[in-house]
Amino acid sequence: RKRVAVFISGGGSNMLALADACTAPDFPAEIVAVFSDKPSAGGIEKAQARGIKTFVFERKGFAGKAEHEAAILAALDEVKPDILCLAGYMRLFSAEFISRYEGSILNIHPALLPLFPGLHTHERAIQAGVKIAGCTVHFVTEGMDEGPIVAQGAVPVLADDTPETLAGRVLTVEHKLYPLALKLLAEGKVRMEDGRAITSPGTVTGIAD
Ligand code: GAR
Repeated sequence: RKRVAVFISGGGSNMLALADACTAPDFPAEIVAVFSDKPSAGGIEKAQARGIKTFVFERKGFAGKAEHEAAILAALDEVKPDILCLAGYMRLFSAEFISRYEGSILNIHPALLPLFPGLHTHERAIQAGVKIAGCTVHFVTEGMDEGPIVAQGAVPVLADDTPETLAGRVLTVEHKLYPLALKLLAEGKVRMEDGRAITSPGTVTGIAD
């Protein structure tokens, strides 16, 4: 089983969805550590309650980004993950950090990329008047929410949606999509090559609620 480190900054519901998937005996991955940049992240206790090792590295505890990342990399050297899953981790890694785990870092973003990268995605989707919204799991590259797409999940946008109601509907699909995408990477059914996601023929990479 591939060893996975999950990075969170908040409630950690996607981390829990991954942890739940990993409890299935035939799932090809296991979570070996959860990293947070926020000591207050609700996901930390949830991970600990499942016996998962946790690490908190607050950015403000370090002189600069390089020192912060060096501390994280040193801890990663201890837990030796094969795959990093960013799950609501609200911080960008440097090119140097990413190159250490090139092709092995996934992120989930609550929009159908390349539409609505960055913050306030649901508000912007509603303002744009789109009728289908969703979420994307992609390989992490240097740019924010920019790497090659691994899988996407779709939901309808309802006429009376607020950013909050839409976020809730999207989050439900995130919890199905992220385990699916992690499974594909762990099984070698998707890989990053020359900046593209190469997926085995016949693989399902799009889901709808
Ligand atoms: C999720 O909706 C995730 O897609 C989003 O933050 C939320 C975290 O929730 N990520 C981003 O916006 C990253 N650009 P969770 O902590 O309950 O998994």
